[in-house]
Amino acid sequence: MDKMERNQVYLNAEAWVLEAGEQIRNKINEPRIIETKSNPNDLVTEMDKQTEKFLVEKIKETYPEHYIIGEEGYGDELTSLQGTVWIIDPIDGTMNFVHQRKNFAISVAVFHDEIGEIGLVYDVMADELYHAKRSEGAYKNEELLPELRRDLKLEESIVDMNHYFLCPNRVVDEKIMHQMIRTVRGSRSYGSAALEFAYVAEGIIDGYLSMRLAPWDIAAGIVLVNEVGGVSTTLDGVSLNMLTNNSILTCNPKIQEQLLAFIKNGRKRLGHN
Ligand code: IPD
Ligand code: CA
Ligand code: CA
Repeated sequence: MDKMERNQVYLNAEAWVLEAGEQIRNKINEPRIIETKSNPNDLVTEMDKQTEKFLVEKIKETYPEHYIIGEEGYGDELTSLQGTVWIIDPIDGTMNFVHQRKNFAISVAVFHDEIGEIGLVYDVMADELYHAKRSEGAYKNEELLPELRRDLKLEESIVDMNHYFLCPNRVVDEKIMHQMIRTVRGSRSYGSAALEFAYVAEGIIDGYLSMRLAPWDIAAGIVLVNEVGGVSTTLDGVSLNMLTNNSILTCNPKIQEQLLAFIKNGRKRLGHN
């Protein structure tokens, strides 16, 4: 994808994301239709569906030759990332959307021939747009985000993860995670993977871990994090597959090895190699 074409796609993506965000803000206090998906805590609302439908219609109208992967199923069934592929999470952090009416984001990425070209994470209620184009830097609204600190120590890091890591679980021995939490300066859990990636890119948290995320949770965030020199892999340090679910560690590269070592140890204790 050449730079001019990418810029045009970016401008459209930005306009549609901002418009979708405005529609959500305008209806934020309306009663919600809440359904559950894979389990009683996996929520979806009419607004998740409407937002994805809106974005998919805009993309299909303007770029009929592009493909779409969307959480709510309005996109295409894809088995490859060849060509231009939009990866959309219409509302990331639906539980926050339902319970808090804030701290959720629209996440839109554009990949071309498997490479992340564009990432947009829009914190709708804060009206903060994190955006990046490959090799052109990452921004929060108009502000260029600086490269991540090269002098960071694990002891002064803030690490973000779901509290399930600290309960007995099948992925990693929680006692090792307790050690990790005691080693770092602080821990956070914001409840929107897209925003958590954006915060790593902004350098306001230093790492984010998850046991299982879908491509639409992470696609835009990966583009943001790449642009400031951050790294994203599975919890085993392996490259991510954007067509399947992955475990995730995205972080400042200065602490990657130490975080992976904790996780490796914790996984070994549960019998994982
Ligand atoms: C969820 C959020 C949450 C993460 C879940 C995701 P959704 O996405 O990103 O922070 O822990 O694994 O499924 O369902 O709100 O789009
Ligand atoms: Ca999501
Ligand atoms: Ca979602």
